[in-house]
Amino acid sequence: MLSRIVSGDNPVYSDSEGVVGLFEVLKVLPTYSSLHVLVDSNTAANCLPVLERSGVLKNASIHVVEAGEGSKSLASSAHLIDRLSQSGADRSALLLNLGGGMVCDLGGFVASIFMRGIRHINIPTSLMAMVDAAIGGKTAVNHSGIKNLVGAFHMPEAVFISSVFLKTLAYRELRSGFAEVIKHALIGAGPQLSELGHPIEAVSSSWDEIIAASVRFKSSVVASDPTDRSFRRILNFGHTIGHVVESISLENGGLPLSHGESVALGMMVETVLSHRLNGLDEESMLNILGLLRRHYPDLALPPMSEEWIRLLQGDKKSDSGTFRFVLLSEIGRPEIEQKVDIRQIMGAVEALSVLERRVSSHP
Ligand SMILES: NC(=O)c1ccc[n+]([C@@H]2O[C@H](COP(=O)([O-])OP(=O)(O)OC[C@H]3O[C@@H](n4cnc5c(N)ncnc54)[C@H](O)[C@@H]3O)[C@@H](O)[C@H]2O)c1
Repeated sequence: MLSRIVSGDNPVYSDSEGVVGLFEVLKVLPTYSSLHVLVDSNTAANCLPVLERSGVLKNASIHVVEAGEGSKSLASSAHLIDRLSQSGADRSALLLNLGGGMVCDLGGFVASIFMRGIRHINIPTSLMAMVDAAIGGKTAVNHSGIKNLVGAFHMPEAVFISSVFLKTLAYRELRSGFAEVIKHALIGAGPQLSELGHPIEAVSSSWDEIIAASVRFKSSVVASDPTDRSFRRILNFGHTIGHVVESISLENGGLPLSHGESVALGMMVETVLSHRLNGLDEESMLNILGLLRRHYPDLALPPMSEEWIRLLQGDKKSDSGTFRFVLLSEIGRPEIEQKVDIRQIMGAVEALSVLERRVSSHP
């Protein structure tokens, strides 16, 4: 059944039973001249057939890019622009982004620049995209080795979420998106933290409620600060250290950490910083660390090095000598622009390894 979980100019719909509700969503839009669907090679195989079987894509042009972060590029954008143009898209065309965060970011970016902007609908298929990337109108591609260097704010006309797509999502990807669900519970009125302690497989029966709570929370934050000038930055909890960890893992070769895994590690360090510098009580800190370790027992921080400092300095949240973090003063109370210096970061990283032992014996 289709339900509207966020109202307003850019509504978010959820259909727990499949994709038939998308007919309703398309019906309420002003008419479009042509319909285009962007997929990556995985969502082409796993998700596109679901839409095709429903009949909703009649006369749509399908555009496929290779799965993976490498496709979030200016080259792929140019390719998609050519494809849209060749298949007759004009200013009234509608683009459906059917995929994870990569597809939503790439498709949203191209929608923001094609003929000075066309409408798009995000149909997120990964948990990361459902609770985060598809919501809020931030679009971007990577360039010169820098993530999200080129982008624009361009709100989707609507977002259509169906948890049926999660059935084909790999466990590691599910767990990656779950980090953002946990983040929402830590920084505000997302899902209740107590609901998130069970193994992810057990949580699956209540995906719809958990996703809806996360989406409502993120949408409310975005509505209060659409262009990320102040309050929206609370969403960066875990991301300052997460960005460092993700970049180091990408540079080191081997299997890199995913975005969500990096954010999970980032939240661990930033929780310790919140306790040491911002009044988060010890009990809450241990509860948060315990929850994160239960879901991410295998993840390890890279050793502290000059690289950490270089990457922190390159982080847009830094100024000379100190780095600006989002820290919690209690669960549900994030504070932006908290200044932290490198010694305090090193202290928190060291303390974390000691605390981990206490966490494992904490109920
Ligand atoms: N714009 C934002 O606000 C925002 C927020 C968070 C993350 N992001 C961006 O999102 C990206 C990460 O998103 P992601 O984790 O979804 O990555 P992703 O889009 O690369 O998807 C991860 C993998 O899962 C596959 N996949 C997706 N849905 C599937 C399904 N239903 N069945 C089978 N396979 C499926 C994809 O093909 C890919 O291989 C990053 O580029 C990140 O920067 C953007």
